[in-house]
Amino acid sequence: MSINSNISPSIIAIDGPAASGKSTLGKRLADALGYLFFDTGVMYRAVTWLVLQRGLDLGDEAAITTLAESVPIEVQPPSQADGRACDVIVEGVDITWETRRPEVETNVSVVSAYPGVRRALSAQQRRIGQRGEVVMVGRDIGTVVLPEADLKIYLDASAEERARRRYDEIIARGESAGYDEILAKVLERDRIDSTRDVAPLKAAEDAIVVDSDNLNAEEVFQQILALCTTTTSP
Ligand code: CDP
Repeated sequence: MSINSNISPSIIAIDGPAASGKSTLGKRLADALGYLFFDTGVMYRAVTWLVLQRGLDLGDEAAITTLAESVPIEVQPPSQADGRACDVIVEGVDITWETRRPEVETNVSVVSAYPGVRRALSAQQRRIGQRGEVVMVGRDIGTVVLPEADLKIYLDASAEERARRRYDEIIARGESAGYDEILAKVLERDRIDSTRDVAPLKAAEDAIVVDSDNLNAEEVFQQILALCTTTTSP
């Protein structure tokens, strides 16, 4: 199904805490509108993967910032139907699934709290977003990256529900996981993401807050799709 983009908001920002369903919603919405789907989290994950791979000290802010400024991270439409929402390519290598590894998940919030890393990545995200016809997903899209977005959604859910969804996702990929461990990581990531000095996780003042605790993916999608047909770009 494709919707006439003349009647839809051109720049859609979706923010929210870890595993709140932003990527699932964003991808479906982008497909329905014929827009580009851009998940900014994969860029922070890619830098974190590079830091670990190169054996950099996670506390070495200067070296990590230089890395984020100098290594191009390419985010492209999916080349394989293996459950990925996009391809993540660094130095010609497809690292899409590496960015989902537990060690990346554990350390990504530390890396993404560094102001220089944020400056480097959000400038690239802003350039892509300003072209329009885009659904951009992250933590600071409506507040910092694209404050001019036509429609801002803040997708929330309780930590327990988010941990359960992330657990189901990992099991569905055929990997093993422990619910308690996932919940602890989700809570820790929420804490770092929402208390950092630069671009902390929070709903923009003009965002529509959707609590998805009692809604399945289909219900969330239908609610937001309805908003898209009543919100137009200027
Ligand atoms: O998919 P999930 O919600 O678990 O995480 P993600 O969206 O891939 O983001 C991973 C991490 O990157 C977050 O926990 C944040 O620390 C960081 N991030 C950010 O700081 N700003 C963004 N716009 C997107 C992600």
